[in-house]
Amino acid sequence: MKTIMSVVGTRPNFMKMGPIEDILKTKKNIKHVIVHTGQHYDANMSDDFFKDFDLRSPDYCLRVSGGGLADQTGRIMVAFEKVLLKVKPDLVITYGDVNSTFAATWTAKQNHIPVAHVEAGLRSFDRNMPEEVNRVCTDALSDILFCTHSNDETQLQIEGIPFGRCHIVGNIMLDYLVKYGDQAFKMAYWKELGFGIGEYNLATLHRPGNVNDSKQLLEMISKLTFHSIITPIIFPVHPRTKKQLLSADLMTTLNSCKTIKVIEPVSYIKFLSLMIGAKKIYTDSGGIQAEASFLDVPCEVLRDTTEWAICRDKSAKTIPLWDGNTAERIVKNLEKYLGI
Ligand code: UD1
Repeated sequence: MKTIMSVVGTRPNFMKMGPIEDILKTKKNIKHVIVHTGQHYDANMSDDFFKDFDLRSPDYCLRVSGGGLADQTGRIMVAFEKVLLKVKPDLVITYGDVNSTFAATWTAKQNHIPVAHVEAGLRSFDRNMPEEVNRVCTDALSDILFCTHSNDETQLQIEGIPFGRCHIVGNIMLDYLVKYGDQAFKMAYWKELGFGIGEYNLATLHRPGNVNDSKQLLEMISKLTFHSIITPIIFPVHPRTKKQLLSADLMTTLNSCKTIKVIEPVSYIKFLSLMIGAKKIYTDSGGIQAEASFLDVPCEVLRDTTEWAICRDKSAKTIPLWDGNTAERIVKNLEKYLGI
């Protein structure tokens, strides 16, 4: 019996871990332990995702949230080490590029436990983004690097990662998109918000570079307001953005704009539904760019750099192995690594 521990903490981690849990729970010789760091803790940023995916509750919840980058990352390391020493897994899986990803990877490696990183080798080449620092550090430390595409593997080799550590497995984010796509389409969540299909654009905004500075935030809101005159915009507001809008005194202005429908963050299937029905998407998220490309919905990226350049020149549907079966390939590789 081998123990694999997955560490998740934020909204974009849950839909990457889910498809792997779905497979691991069927394996008699693997125990899958799920650790939730608590980086995201609001029901609509966390619990609702577990409900959408019918996922069991995490085995451990560290309840570490808020704080600055170093503070949050450090507290996750301290809390995670206690669970790690108790469970002593044979391998830890980390996902994406958030603080929880790097904190768990660093802590596992300091305790001589191998790490598999899902979504390795993505680069925006902008080291002012906290996620880019997390990506570079996580990849440098990981033993198994699961890449979405051959470009990511090439980048890892440039950074000196031994060839044998990398495996191109496709894009895990699409596993649940493929699984839940029909359900999301049938849900037609846009109707509940008073729109017809293709009658609205969808916007998300949460990057520190866009929302932490009130001048930049005002610029982004002005841009959305301007575009909404032609086509109305549905705007689910992330907690970081909400805080900044309130402190910059912009929330009332935004709420009074009749062509922008401000809503709370929504669960995975509702958001997927809104993406499917949108005419266009404005976003500074990484994952949404890839999802929009797969759905063939035009997407305007609200930042200068992207780690998903691969999705800029072609539909993600045409990229090899972006087929909704990435979790299977990951698990096969893990079984091989663990000798089972
Ligand atoms: C984090 C990730 C980012 C990812 C995003 C997805 C890092 C460095 N950033 O950014 O890559 O795209 O998640 O959403 O890890 N908050 C709440 N409720 C919540 C979650 C957060 O109120 O459920 C508040 C926090 O207390 C904090 C702020 O929102 O004040 C930002 O949260 P944090 O986890 O630090 O980073 P995100 O901006 O969510």
